Amino acid sequence: MLEKIKETARYIAERTGFNAEIGIILGTGLGGLVKEIEIESTLDYRDIPNFPVSTVEGHAGRLIFGKLGNKDVMAMQGRFHYYEGYSMQEVTFPVRVMQQLGIKFLFVSNATGGLNPDYKVGDIMVISDHINFFPEHPLRGPNIAELGPRFPDMSRVYDERLRYSAKLISLENDFNLKEGVYVGVSGPTFETPAEYLMFRNLGGDVVGMSTVPEVIVARHAGIKVFGISIITDSGVPGQIVEISHEEVQKVAMKAEPKMTLVLKKLIESI
Ligand code: HPA
Repeated sequence: MLEKIKETARYIAERTGFNAEIGIILGTGLGGLVKEIEIESTLDYRDIPNFPVSTVEGHAGRLIFGKLGNKDVMAMQGRFHYYEGYSMQEVTFPVRVMQQLGIKFLFVSNATGGLNPDYKVGDIMVISDHINFFPEHPLRGPNIAELGPRFPDMSRVYDERLRYSAKLISLENDFNLKEGVYVGVSGPTFETPAEYLMFRNLGGDVVGMSTVPEVIVARHAGIKVFGISIITDSGVPGQIVEISHEEVQKVAMKAEPKMTLVLKKLIESI
């Protein structure tokens, strides 16, 4: 495992001369951020040794290297979802490679169903905490001490300073940013009304099918994390309507400019 991570990191470093502290996983809603990056080089996932290959519609698979808000960044265009059949090691492999490359900050985005009755479809939420509801843990198995501790602390997963800065950015730009708890589930089914209610009662504000595995591995690696969610559909009793992947993409597209603005300004502020 460690050898594979190092081999992949070496390949990327040799190909790109990469030297940056900021990693971004361009999940749903952050496609637009690509246009803001002054791209210096790209690598298709299929050309990178040991990298899994992306399969979901609407998620291209490549690494992008370039400048965003005068900072060097490495961005993943397309992520690996557990529901696609990848193992937890595959889902989180790119984060391990980022760790090896010296990444210090990880920015992630995702699409979610809203559980908090105060949230509307189209709202954006900064993740303050998460509940891991995946059936498998990304750190299960022998711990590699070089990568992080056996029992990582999870008391402050989402960086407080970055969350505070995001709040200021939203105030300065006159839009509302929610803050709350992300429940991570395996999918691929959306939730039944009873499941949405259960996740709400357990303390969740939104529910989605990604992010938690990558974030856990990033924290294990000592990387600072910022997460942001788009509420693409409602799981609030009385407001639930039929939902599809297309609908999720459509709503996410509309919220993209705001999400892009927050990320860009936030990265500038580091
Ligand atoms: N549930 C889980 N994942 C999601 C949802 C949802 O309602 N919407 C977008 N991703």
